[in-house]
Amino acid sequence: MRQAGRYLPEYRKIREKHEVLAICKDPELCAKVTSMPAQILGVDAAIMFADIMLPLEGMGVKLKIEEGIGPVIKEPITDNRSAGALEKLDAPSDVPFVLDAIRLVKKLLDGRVPLIGFSGAPFTIASYLIEGRPTRDFTKVKSLMYRNPKTWHLLMEKLADSMTAYLQAQIDAGVDAVQLFDSWVGCLSPQDYHNYVLPYSQRIFKNLEGSGVPRIHFGTGTSNFLEEMKLAGGDVFSVDWRVPIDAAWRRLGYDVAVQGNLDPAAILADVELLKSFAADILERAKGRAGHIFNLGHGMLPEASAETVAELVKFVHESTRSSQVR
Ligand code: CP3
Repeated sequence: MRQAGRYLPEYRKIREKHEVLAICKDPELCAKVTSMPAQILGVDAAIMFADIMLPLEGMGVKLKIEEGIGPVIKEPITDNRSAGALEKLDAPSDVPFVLDAIRLVKKLLDGRVPLIGFSGAPFTIASYLIEGRPTRDFTKVKSLMYRNPKTWHLLMEKLADSMTAYLQAQIDAGVDAVQLFDSWVGCLSPQDYHNYVLPYSQRIFKNLEGSGVPRIHFGTGTSNFLEEMKLAGGDVFSVDWRVPIDAAWRRLGYDVAVQGNLDPAAILADVELLKSFAADILERAKGRAGHIFNLGHGMLPEASAETVAELVKFVHESTRSSQVR
């Protein structure tokens, strides 16, 4: 994740001339950036170059992605009126560039690696919409959730419906898997996750059940409520480094696949130590079908592309005997 991000010199060069959202809205440029990591790093899948906030513009939200900060919302959601004003996303007319880019990337990749489409999960998007920018303590989100449940549920319902439409449109355009990013959900207690979040993520996964592509459920800091996350749905569960992957998989059950769970900071370690961390994860996964080796969260801007390529090579070599290709 964030595999095309700022640590990649080829990406940085394009970013010197174009804003993140401008790259997303230019299908040719977007396709180029999306296919870069598979070419440069040798990873086994490409993820669409987009941002979880991109489709929000189609719902009437004014936003920017600010350098060194992240998404910033012009008029944060505070009440029933502002939540009610959100329009339902009509993907073909609101985000035609994403769908065009998917078709272009599929041609560029030519079947070499699968393409992952994605959206933000209702909670994580709601947190940006309410806080107005990235936060550490989520006080505005939680206070709206507790004090104004009517607005909370209205907002979550709208986001669930629009993100379902967004993911379905990406599937129709040709992505091979979809990932729902609930990056900040780990700030909640298991009970709050159950009451305020689960029904909405569940609705998205249910709606995509017959879509024919694997559905990846991503979260960080979720080791306290993996069982609840499983109830919400998905075919693959992403776990971060705060829980050993074998323990997480046992709790989730072997009927689902798992993705993870190297600490992104491990890329900053000496290569031999990095390899030992990776080897530990592979050992815990025991070559069981359904393990996707990945980072527990996004690549850090400080990472070196050479080290990442070396890590990819190490994982390939260590798992060669069980590889399908
Ligand atoms: O691999 C890829 O690079 C795919 C593209 C991608 C972006 N955002 C582009 C982007 C993906 C998959 C995302 C998802 C995303 N965006 C998430 C969910 C995944 C996660 O990381 O938890 C979230 C929470 C966001 C919101 C967001 N966008 C943040 C918090 C930031 C700032 C983070 C940072 O590292 O600076 C962004 C900006 C952003 N979105 C960048 C990229 C490549 C970096 C900005 C830049 O290039 O200047």
